[in-house]
Amino acid sequence: MKKEILDYLNNNRSKHLDDLFDFLRIPSISADSSCSGHIEEAAQFLKKEIEGLGFQTEIIRTSGNPLVYAQTTIDPSKKTLLFYGHYDVQPVDPLELWKSEPFNPVLEGTTIYARGASDDKGQLYSHLKAIEAWVKTGNEIPVNIKLIFEGEEECGGHAVYEFTENNAEKLACDAVIVSDTSLYNAQTPAICYSLRGMSYMEIKLTGPSKDLHSGSYGGAVQNPANALCEIIAGLKDSRGHILIPGFYDDVVILEDDERKSFASLNYTDADLNRETGAVSPFGESGYTTLERMWARPTCDVNGMISGYTGEGAKTIIPATASAKISMRLVPHQNPEKISEAFTAWVKKICPSGVSIEVINHHGANPVMVERDGAMLTAGSLAMEAGFGKKPVFIREGGSIPIVGTFKSELNAPVLLLGYGLPDDNIHSPNEKYELENYYNGIICTATLLKTASEV
Ligand code: BES
Ligand code: MN
Ligand code: MN
Repeated sequence: MKKEILDYLNNNRSKHLDDLFDFLRIPSISADSSCSGHIEEAAQFLKKEIEGLGFQTEIIRTSGNPLVYAQTTIDPSKKTLLFYGHYDVQPVDPLELWKSEPFNPVLEGTTIYARGASDDKGQLYSHLKAIEAWVKTGNEIPVNIKLIFEGEEECGGHAVYEFTENNAEKLACDAVIVSDTSLYNAQTPAICYSLRGMSYMEIKLTGPSKDLHSGSYGGAVQNPANALCEIIAGLKDSRGHILIPGFYDDVVILEDDERKSFASLNYTDADLNRETGAVSPFGESGYTTLERMWARPTCDVNGMISGYTGEGAKTIIPATASAKISMRLVPHQNPEKISEAFTAWVKKICPSGVSIEVINHHGANPVMVERDGAMLTAGSLAMEAGFGKKPVFIREGGSIPIVGTFKSELNAPVLLLGYGLPDDNIHSPNEKYELENYYNGIICTATLLKTASEV
């Protein structure tokens, strides 16, 4: 990497941190409709930043949140990289557990705390700062660049899928670059080659037309909260095996070489405890922790609502009970098929005496991307330049819904170069991003612009 580019990055560390803080101050929570003004603000922030790089930039209006799209003037003799990221963030509750305000970023020691610091504003922003370093030092970028940033990754929106499906030519590229995952650990950079998919469901049970006195009517009618527990208990057995008929039909069996490669990472119970605070690992028998997190499907309650939850005791039979349930999917499970199987099973095992409604909120395809090829070599060299070591190959348990669509529609390799850490508290209170990862991520992307042009 050119010394003047590295020098530029070195000399601008504090400015680049201030700029990121400005981005982090925007409360762009896509799940919260009262934040729609801030979604717009975040999109405009990016547009302005990208225009400062001299790129043609547009805000694309969609049926959902706006997309920010930009590209350099295309020189057909050069390769083209498409960078993707999301400017929306997760809600902040429970707010009382934050040690600082989620949208008032702070630097404590060498750690940035703010909602979105790691997922995904900090990572996305590394790309812009890397490009800035090439532009501001007057160096011609050796690849064509396209940028697409969306604002509804965290809430199951469709805008970016629709746009990709309808604009495959506009987005045509030699590789898609996504930084929305993590290093394997603080010492070990990683390239991710598989993400789980998702089927997100909600069950709503209705019993009596109002909350009833549990003495007067207890024993006479079905209790929706009890019925909901029966349904949930019918989703999995005590060995962690999911009981929905057909659920495992399309699951790709883990091969020995992949199991060996997971095992070589030496992930321990202590690692899991440090990252999560959970007293011990738990889950489907017959699989290691990494296998269960990366390559096995799940069925988990995300939230339940029913009856009296205030102070003291109130004696009622609740009128309603509901639960939000997500299933993480692995290749080649299909979210629509799984949602249908879930709905049919839940309706079948629903006890009598309540009416049931099952809602399919959103889905995402599981995805497996290339593990070798020229662009992977370029990515690997860039990771090494940024983080000082050759990356290991990992899978991730989380989902990035658009990745499957990029793979199928754009016919280009997708590089999942993650700059976060597994313990960055993404989606939790006190989300963080290590300063070094921010700066090293920028060096990684800046290097990638060169390595991708040479492979
Ligand atoms: N960046 C995450 C995905 C992720 C999480 C990758 C952990 C690697 C490790 C992404 O922003 C995310 O949270 N996705 C959602 C998608 C869902 C709403 C369809 C997820 O996984 O819950
Ligand atoms: Mn993300
Ligand atoms: Mn997320």
